Amino acid sequence: MLGTALLAASRSTLVRRAVSGFPLTRRVVERFVAGEDTASAVAAIRRLTGAGLAVTVDHLGEETRDADAAAHTAKAYVALLDALAPLELGPRAEVSVKLSAVGQALGGDGERIALAHAREICAAARAAGTTVTLDMEDHTTVDSTLGILRELRADFPGTGVALQSYLFRTEADCRDLSHEGSRVRLVKGAYAEPASVAYQSKAEVDKAYVRCLRILMSGKGYPMVATHDDRLIAITELLADQTGRGRDAYEYQMLYGIRPDKQEALARAGGTVRVYVPYGDDWYGYFMRRLAERPANLAFFLRSLTST
Ligand code: FDA
Repeated sequence: MLGTALLAASRSTLVRRAVSGFPLTRRVVERFVAGEDTASAVAAIRRLTGAGLAVTVDHLGEETRDADAAAHTAKAYVALLDALAPLELGPRAEVSVKLSAVGQALGGDGERIALAHAREICAAARAAGTTVTLDMEDHTTVDSTLGILRELRADFPGTGVALQSYLFRTEADCRDLSHEGSRVRLVKGAYAEPASVAYQSKAEVDKAYVRCLRILMSGKGYPMVATHDDRLIAITELLADQTGRGRDAYEYQMLYGIRPDKQEALARAGGTVRVYVPYGDDWYGYFMRRLAERPANLAFFLRSLTST
């Protein structure tokens, strides 16, 4: 109930203005966001990779309705990748892109614009010795995102994509994308989706996650298991044993600021753990989804607003 209200608020311009304008919000946001500019992102990337973690970096922004803003976001990614190249981190530092931030939501020619911007980002990633993963947004964008993925993979075969276990369609998408060379990030899903397309209860979403995981782990691609859920991590280890996957044939992914102890413990145990590092000033939608995932985060946020 509360989660649904927060997800609705994540799309409200009015609430966005109120929350973003509140000075103390920043303190709480910093727990989930690495900073507002490229230099802050690079500092966080250095710290995390220095601690033995890999990263995927997200320049915050989504549902851009303005072509100039879409071009600006693509440029920000290219600048970030140019700044990463001399660090020679290679695939240990890749980027995550929301297609709606680079043109997909513009309408008209939007998909073509998003594809062109995504290509520029993929080319900069290749020059830095790394890859791009496409985030998955609400269910209305899935076909478009998978179509753009197919086009990108023709020139940049390392391009990956996120799939969401809460959608009924995702088991079939996992089968389609479990081929050699395919990189799939499996997540539960973070948007408010209707019962006509998505499982509504946590138990159903978790069970669907396990079914999708089984498909990916027994397939020929590279599964990226993106969850903070201990039970799903334990199931991944069992499936890796059953399918004879070595630790270098799959990876874990978690969000910046969420369960950092677990991130480091998994990495110490010899697995690849990639932290999703968001940065930029357009943090509102991302931040509200993190609050919606966990009531304790909302309590922390409200306490910080009332403390001096
Ligand atoms: P679940 O929400 O059941 O949480 C399991 C446990 O993890 C909780 O009990 C708690 O301990 C901890 N936890 C989870 N969320 C927390 C939070 N916000 N704060 C503190 N603790 C928390 N979604 C999407 O729709 N499209 C996408 O492209 C992506 N991309 C993506 C990349 C990466 C690397 C990750 C880790 C996640 C995403 N997501 C996403 C978000 C994903 O869909 C999902 O909403 C969150 O990962 C939370 O789900 P969990 O699997 O962690 O389980």
